[in-house]
Amino acid sequence: MRAVVFGGTRTVSAEEVPDARIEEPSDVVVRVTSSAICGTDLHMYDGRTGAEPGMVLGHEALGVVESVGDAVRMVERGDRVVIPTHLYCGVCVNCARGLSAACLRVRSGGFGAAYGYAGMGCYRGAQAELLRVPFADANCVPVPGEPDDVFEDDFAMLPDAFVTGWHATELASVSAGAAVAVFGAGAVGLLSAYSALLKGAEEVYVVDHVPERLDKAAEIGATPVDFHEGDPVEQIRDLRRASGLPPGEEPMTGVDAGIDAVGFQADDRLRPGEENPTQVVGDLARLVNPAGHLGIIGVYAEKDLSPAPRGHTDGRLTVPWATLFAKGVSVRFGRTHDRRYTVLLRDLILAGRAHPGVVVTHHGPVEEAPALYRAFDRRADGVIKAVLRP
Ligand SMILES: NC(=O)c1ccc[n+]([C@@H]2O[C@H](COP(=O)([O-])OP(=O)(O)OC[C@H]3O[C@@H](n4cnc5c(N)ncnc54)[C@H](O)[C@@H]3O)[C@@H](O)[C@H]2O)c1
Ligand SMILES: [Zn+2]
Ligand SMILES: [Zn+2]
Repeated sequence: MRAVVFGGTRTVSAEEVPDARIEEPSDVVVRVTSSAICGTDLHMYDGRTGAEPGMVLGHEALGVVESVGDAVRMVERGDRVVIPTHLYCGVCVNCARGLSAACLRVRSGGFGAAYGYAGMGCYRGAQAELLRVPFADANCVPVPGEPDDVFEDDFAMLPDAFVTGWHATELASVSAGAAVAVFGAGAVGLLSAYSALLKGAEEVYVVDHVPERLDKAAEIGATPVDFHEGDPVEQIRDLRRASGLPPGEEPMTGVDAGIDAVGFQADDRLRPGEENPTQVVGDLARLVNPAGHLGIIGVYAEKDLSPAPRGHTDGRLTVPWATLFAKGVSVRFGRTHDRRYTVLLRDLILAGRAHPGVVVTHHGPVEEAPALYRAFDRRADGVIKAVLRP
């Protein structure tokens, strides 16, 4: 089968690799129809996390079941299925609580796992014609319709980008009427903003500097904030003042909920071309209102193989703990619990309430992966979310 293979820093290629096949009776093999490229893939592409050359990348698959292991009961050949990124067993104590990113049975010596992801288990990547799906009864979310129908891009956002955006709003306790700031206007940040709006947030600001991404933020109903035009914290406070705060609430010019959808490879706003892994958390700590909430879903790597000057190889970062304490802010982190959200968000799509495919900008066969990765990595050519059609 054809697959996207990591070759070393900033190198991927479309190669022939052995077909995915049933290895355990609880597996299925899925023929992948859409497989998106994610900001997480870029952390590996940039040589920042320990991906080994030869690894098949990708973790965001939609497809059709091609073969079924003997122990599988809930899925049949021919079913159209979404495959959540963070695979899980479905029955351990954490899965039973819906905390599937902490599944106890999918990675020996650790918890939680993902496809095509350095340090997250031995599961081959999804940017390929075929994908082996373990614990298939738990990890195949059925969706109606036919490949390439009007829902293809919407469903292709369900394995990761949309559920992660929704999870961010849960971590940051976004509720109706909230003022929300999202840092990062990649697919994940945009779908965090989109989720906040679906939940009835009153004002949603999206901070980035890439023009096409800021335009997309406006298109989905958020207020774009360009950090090249000045301190985003002050820009958002000015916008909040200008919009008119209710009497007595004048000091609350910050936001109730802040979301970090950037992670450790954040741009340093004051040193163009440099990174600062604490830039976003520092800005959010300044911006969040007293008793507010932060949701951190941008990835922070435990081993950064090429840290920024103020970064740290083992992820021990200096953050304004005292500011967060003084304000009484809650801070929550982590990978999304796919088991909790995938079905809910699928149903919002089917009900016509959500259209997450709005963030998809590019499509291409596996052969175009090298060019799409290059453009995405540079945030060039308007690439926000590219979806491979293997
Ligand atoms: N927690 C999870 O389960 C989960 C799942 C998927 C992705 N992620 C992570 O979410 C993050 C975003 O993913 P994506 O696919 O949207 O990536 P992306 O690379 O497309 O988007 C990141 C955006 O952040 C912007 N940015 C950089 N520095 C900034 C700063 N200082 N302030 C504001 N914006 C800044 C960039 O310009 C870019 O547009 C990545 O770290 C990814 O690994 C986490
Ligand atoms: Zn992803
Ligand atoms: Zn489990």
